[in-house]
Amino acid sequence: MGRALLITGASSGIGRATAMALARRGYRLALTARRETLLAQAAREIESAVPGARVTIRALDVTDADAVAAAIPWAAEALDGLDAVFANAGIGSGGRVGSGQLAADLRCVQVNLLGAMATLDAALAWFRAHGGGQLIATGSVAGFRGLPGTAAYSASKAGLAAYLEALRAETLAEPIEVTAIYPGFIDTPINQGLRSRPFLIDAADGGERIARHIERRSARAVVPAWPWAMARYLLPLLPTRLLAGRGLR
Ligand SMILES: NC(=O)c1ccc[n+]([C@@H]2O[C@H](COP(=O)([O-])OP(=O)(O)OC[C@H]3O[C@@H](n4cnc5c(N)ncnc54)[C@H](OP(=O)(O)O)[C@@H]3O)[C@@H](O)[C@H]2O)c1
Repeated sequence: MGRALLITGASSGIGRATAMALARRGYRLALTARRETLLAQAAREIESAVPGARVTIRALDVTDADAVAAAIPWAAEALDGLDAVFANAGIGSGGRVGSGQLAADLRCVQVNLLGAMATLDAALAWFRAHGGGQLIATGSVAGFRGLPGTAAYSASKAGLAAYLEALRAETLAEPIEVTAIYPGFIDTPINQGLRSRPFLIDAADGGERIARHIERRSARAVVPAWPWAMARYLLPLLPTRLLAGRGLR
């Protein structure tokens, strides 16, 4: 029997594509997001592409920590076990600081950082009680340095990266693996309104690459690695005046 994984943000983009790639590798899947119709569609797509695939769905808003905590044992029961939890749900931010979009910026941090924390915290508690497991989360290259036009998004992803590193250190002596995924630009609705998306790859390709890292239990993975793995080291060194005239929107 393949591994069992719960994923948040599975109704679209990276989550949906990674679920398909994992199903092809024999994973049993619990797909969650708020839009249940899209989840049902994703499940049907997987079942028709991968005969015999085991997929279950549940509506879940990651900003509801109690609902997140309840989803973990639900997935374990539905899939006869749980080996991995992928905190992937995320949204973009409002815009430039001081532009009247604080509500959207706060919402971004609530989903991307607090929602991921709720997911990872509940998953770790369950794994500790059941012999171990793999914690996976989607950060972003935008978390390597605060980028103009997307301050709240960068902050949410930098916060998540720090949280994942602390989590890795806290669980080092336990049968817990932590996999941090840092995408560059993958073609999904989250970035389709941006004016520039350098080195873009399509969602299916992104999902394949991420599934490979999940399988390998990579500790940290930049996707695609070229050229974004370098951004991890170069972005913090870039003079601010070079960044200032740019920005994603
Ligand atoms: N695409 C990229 O280039 C890129 C780059 C770096 C990082 N990322 C990260 O990758 C992750 C997936 O994004 P994507 O690119 O696949 O964008 P997407 O196609 O817009 O998908 C976002 C997913 O998050 C879910 N979601 C949003 N708010 C939620 C909430 N409150 N509760 C539960 N689920 C929620 C959405 O489902 P519902 O609306 O149905 O709830 C959807 O399934 C995000 O964390 C994003 O920040 C993406």
